[in-house]
Amino acid sequence: MSENPKNKKRVIVLFGGRADEHSISCISAGSLLRAIDRDRFEPVPVAIAKEGQWVLPDVDPCEWNLGDGVMPEVNMTDGSRPVMIDMAKGADGFFALLPGDNKAGSAAIGVGVSGDMTAGDVEDTDCEWLGHIDAVFPVLHGEYGEDGAVQGLLETLGVPYVGCGVLASAVCMDKHFTKILLRAAGIAVTPGVTFDARPFDQSSRFEANAGEILGAVAAAGLRYPLFVKPAWGGSSFGVTKVERQEDLVAAVYAAYPYSWRILVEQGIEGREIECAVLSTNPLAEPRTAWPGEIVLDHKRSEGDEFYDFDAKYIDSSASHVEVPAKLPTEMLQKVRDVAARAFKAVDGAGLMRVDTFVQEDGTVMVNEINTMPGFTSISMYPKAWAASGIEYQKVITELIDSVAR
Ligand SMILES: Nc1ncnc2c1ncn2[C@@H]1O[C@H](COP(=O)(O)OP(=O)(O)O)[C@@H](O)[C@H]1O
Ligand SMILES: [Mg+2]
Repeated sequence: MSENPKNKKRVIVLFGGRADEHSISCISAGSLLRAIDRDRFEPVPVAIAKEGQWVLPDVDPCEWNLGDGVMPEVNMTDGSRPVMIDMAKGADGFFALLPGDNKAGSAAIGVGVSGDMTAGDVEDTDCEWLGHIDAVFPVLHGEYGEDGAVQGLLETLGVPYVGCGVLASAVCMDKHFTKILLRAAGIAVTPGVTFDARPFDQSSRFEANAGEILGAVAAAGLRYPLFVKPAWGGSSFGVTKVERQEDLVAAVYAAYPYSWRILVEQGIEGREIECAVLSTNPLAEPRTAWPGEIVLDHKRSEGDEFYDFDAKYIDSSASHVEVPAKLPTEMLQKVRDVAARAFKAVDGAGLMRVDTFVQEDGTVMVNEINTMPGFTSISMYPKAWAASGIEYQKVITELIDSVAR
């Protein structure tokens, strides 16, 4: 794998990960690997197992599909080959244990190659050099992948990567800090209060803190229904719609397993309009696609009132993506403008999906920003670009070309 095939850029497609969105990332990567232009790129799929080990998987991610009801998972198996990074080698420091030598821990340590790095150097060791890496495409959602952690590692290593840098990734992973930066840039965000639940009394399931919670919500003038959600996390995990004051504390407690910083927001009556942003030249204005809307096709059960995990990922018949959203053109333009401003406000790079609420009176509020949005071919991000004149494969090509060495 050491010599790059003629004119092809070798790209590590990093997927899986330790976050709750592990399986979604696997599916996003599968889609990307099916679509990537193999005349121009040589993708190297590197999986991060749920426990955090990096491996060359013994399964082909291309076989994973959204909608076939299977939630793929990468684990350390006998057939998977641990991947190691030799920090001394910088950007070209990616190695994998040879097949059959799958002793992830101790065996992997100390197999690094010294001196000038050539394929020959590594031949008599029990690991294989993955060769010159032109770029990494981290198709990771959620914690450790979309939050700046992996970006920091790649930055330290000096390997170019697709997407937002450390700051934008970290800020957008935390809905509280996203709102602070957006508000400072004059962009409307959902009104709400934020709690640090670490000091709250777990033994009473936060009932002992009811006074503080209800008091802050009342002082902020928030009206029911409220939405309670963890500051980080995603895919609607831990999100609860609260209709009555007596259910608020339980909802805050329910968010706590996902993050100790918890937002209580006023429920916004509006349409959820999402805008894909693409920036392949930091000197130019970011490009925005026609905003889209997820249209729920049926309510599956009582209480299924918002776009929850199942509607998003499991039940593909529950919703469909509509681009452009059925809104007047000037409203769509307004959303695009807000999305481009939001991209710059958080120091975005590469790609981002800005999710907004558009209210009856024309107000556009940003709800949240995803720096690595769902990336399957039927996800909003690629669909929005396809509807705006840039096909999925071209989006991938442009993103990689803009960073690869
Ligand atoms: N303030 C709010 N008003 C109305 N609906 C909300 C609000 N906050 C969240 N929701 C609903 O909950 C869903 C998930 O919340 P969101 O903030 O997007 O978190 P996630 O990162 O899990 O996608 C949204 O798509 C929306 O349907
Ligand atoms: Mg969301």
